[in-house]
Amino acid sequence: MTELVQQSTPAATGDATRWWRDAVIYQIYVRSFADGNGDGIGDLLGVRSRLEYLSGLGVDAIWLTPFYTSPMADFGYDVADYRNVDPIFGSLGDAAALVRDAHRHGLRVIVDVVPNHTSDRHAWFQAAVQAGPGAPERARYVFRPGRGEQGELPPNDWESVFGGPAWTRLPDGEWYLHLFAPEQPDLDWENPEVHAEFEDVLRFWLDLGVDGFRIDVAHGMVKAAGLPDVGHADQVRMLGTEVLPYFDQDGVHEIHRAWRRLLDSYPGERIAVAEAWAPTIDRLARYVRPDETHQAFNFHYLTANWDAASFRAVIEESLATAGLVGAPSTWVLSNHDVKRHVTRYGGGELGLRRARAAALLTLALPGSAYVYQGEELGLPEVLDLPEEFLRDPQRLRAPEDGRDGCRVPIPWAHAEPPFGFSPLGIAQSWLPMPASWGPLSVEAQLRDPASMLALYREALRLRRELPGLGDGALTWLDSPAGTLAFARDGGFTCTVNLGPEPAAMPVPGELLLASAEVTVQGGAVRLPADCAAWWRSA
Ligand code: GLC
Repeated sequence: MTELVQQSTPAATGDATRWWRDAVIYQIYVRSFADGNGDGIGDLLGVRSRLEYLSGLGVDAIWLTPFYTSPMADFGYDVADYRNVDPIFGSLGDAAALVRDAHRHGLRVIVDVVPNHTSDRHAWFQAAVQAGPGAPERARYVFRPGRGEQGELPPNDWESVFGGPAWTRLPDGEWYLHLFAPEQPDLDWENPEVHAEFEDVLRFWLDLGVDGFRIDVAHGMVKAAGLPDVGHADQVRMLGTEVLPYFDQDGVHEIHRAWRRLLDSYPGERIAVAEAWAPTIDRLARYVRPDETHQAFNFHYLTANWDAASFRAVIEESLATAGLVGAPSTWVLSNHDVKRHVTRYGGGELGLRRARAAALLTLALPGSAYVYQGEELGLPEVLDLPEEFLRDPQRLRAPEDGRDGCRVPIPWAHAEPPFGFSPLGIAQSWLPMPASWGPLSVEAQLRDPASMLALYREALRLRRELPGLGDGALTWLDSPAGTLAFARDGGFTCTVNLGPEPAAMPVPGELLLASAEVTVQGGAVRLPADCAAWWRSA
């Protein structure tokens, strides 16, 4: 094999605590992870009871989706009190105990912060509604008079990400902005009170011991001056490709800079990860400049097509762009907002095979990787949830855009629902679990050396053991069409066949791990379709 390109992200310099540059971070959708109190809904007690599993899996940190006081119009992304825990999920004491126990298990803890909008039940919004037009209470949100003779038309043409206009009118005639559900009014970040409040919220959780924040809609917050029209409908479909007056505005970076200063004032390398959708990878890199957030989710990787050219292109672009600003790349295949990748990659046996290969590819790349709960079990999207259970507000946009199917609870054990998600005797989880999930349970997969779980555990074990994995450089190697091959420092090679036919290539070394059976004969290896393998090379 000949070396083609050398790409690198700068290696950690000096500071041994830059843990986040190559951390594997496990996303816990709290509602669906583990139910500790037996009400059919996951909670903090449930997470605490599974820390052993997570440290055994070999991840470095957990990211908990919002567990704060919330009326749950968007399942917790509508926060009514940023400094408290919703009774559904437990208490503040449970949160503190979870952080403490996680640290004892060697796991760092990242929590979500939702700064673009509050819940309509937040004390601030309630006060704003009460206070009436022109009151200072309204200046914390984006209230405007309507257009049209009687103000009966929304102030501009902005659309909600969840479908329909981004404005709702109050009985007193004023309209308020909500880029998401009407129950999620947007805050006005022109108002210094909003800045002060959020810095205080961050301090509250940092003082409680969390290791960082995942910043929800980190590209929102600041809106273009004068709130200009977009000029066309169907804005949701343009998300991510077009510059919109309500996303990715330059002013948003000032907030991230201020938060970075705050994070840096705490000991122990506390981090921020931006959920930022930017039109280009270049624009995304701005969020991870050295004085802004530490990481940003790489949704371009998540949306890559299953073929070698698409993956190579997005990997090269991601590394080059993050490298420009000295940040690590991140790699993510699934989360609580998208169809699970087993299903996206074709579902059934095909989807599973590809998901196995994708896991090895992802964990071999330079930078930090995110694992969404259940992907280590190979869970598919649940496509046939009974209508009466579907409550995701995004279904308003289009029923097929609903996100319930990737939020079905985790099967832990036993042959029947709720598969150990809830304590024995509890019949129904908040979203029903497919009766066929018994063989996918953690308990079943721990017994099966060929399971997806076994593959993740072994890959994560090797990732810790092999010095070249994680942060550092990647060197592309020559490989047949439809395949990818790259080397990492310290004698490691990853080969991936993304094509539909087996591919033959020279043996790169001693086989460490493969997502499917590979045959080595003479000096050649035959990689079956949709297969990745890790090698110790000379
Ligand atoms: C983010 C969250 C998503 C939520 C939205 C509004 O995209 O990941 O679940 O609905 O923000 O807060």
